[in-house]
Amino acid sequence: MIELEKVSFSYAAQGPTVSDLSFQIEQGEFVAILGANGAGKTTTVKLIDGLIRPTSGRVMIHGSDTAKTPVSQRARQVGFLFQNPDRQICKNTVREEILFGLSAVRGDEPEERRTARAEEVLADFGFTGDEEPFALSRGQRQRVALASILAVEPEVLILDEPTTGLDYRECCHIMDRIRRMNRERKVTVVMVCHDMEVVLDYADRALVMACGRLLGDGPVREIFRDRMLMETASILPPQMIGLAQRLGLDGGDTPEAMADVLAARAKGGEEQ
Ligand SMILES: Nc1ncnc2c1ncn2[C@@H]1O[C@H](COP(=O)(O)OP(=O)(O)OP(=O)(O)O)[C@@H](O)[C@H]1O
Ligand SMILES: [Mg+2]
Repeated sequence: MIELEKVSFSYAAQGPTVSDLSFQIEQGEFVAILGANGAGKTTTVKLIDGLIRPTSGRVMIHGSDTAKTPVSQRARQVGFLFQNPDRQICKNTVREEILFGLSAVRGDEPEERRTARAEEVLADFGFTGDEEPFALSRGQRQRVALASILAVEPEVLILDEPTTGLDYRECCHIMDRIRRMNRERKVTVVMVCHDMEVVLDYADRALVMACGRLLGDGPVREIFRDRMLMETASILPPQMIGLAQRLGLDGGDTPEAMADVLAARAKGGEEQ
């Protein structure tokens, strides 16, 4: 679904911000991009979305080069949730906001179909549609932004720090909905995230970046268990991973799994 071939990018008058990035993401994967501040994560997802174009190399989405794809087609394929929802929201009611995105991307469809789709999404996200986005809380505005992106049913969903500033409940709300889209509709998800607990809970695969380069790529748990990689990339893995490693408890990466492994061990000890 997504393929980067030796992609490099420089902002004007600077050395390369990302260098020689090559990776592929299959349809339906849930991939997290990890790395310290300034590692080049946002630049990479902007390259995937075609918001910026590679200085060298190629970015392909579903077999077509983003540099040659019209913006309208790309917007239909790829939805991009910015870290700050206020950079995305521009209308006075939630309904207008959702219809705005639908008209921009699916303007060729009959109006009744767009209206029906908007109502479906409003109901799904628990909005009446008459709410004023700027009177809503930060988390609710994030949900409005997500609703307007999901309304157009993109094949790829890019999330740049989707949970920053959200409380636990809102975070679960947003992330569970994204997981549903990923599992039920096979939407490919690429998420930049600094919250390693969220990464462990939701992503299957992690790409690790440092200084604009790709340092690691693999299943999330394996990546977190690679101490050298975590140190080099300045990432603090979830505490449960470190604790399970220290206790030599393979598979005890969540409190529930850890409790199960410890209970099984204790039972084994009693039986002996
Ligand atoms: N518009 C821009 N013009 C010039 N330099 C930029 C621009 N945007 C980003 N940079 C630089 O490119 C580098 C990578 O930035 P990027 O935003 O991709 O990092 P990031 O990994 O997303 O960091 P963070 O975790 O802080 O969001 C940084 O050194 C940054 O200063
Ligand atoms: Mg960033």
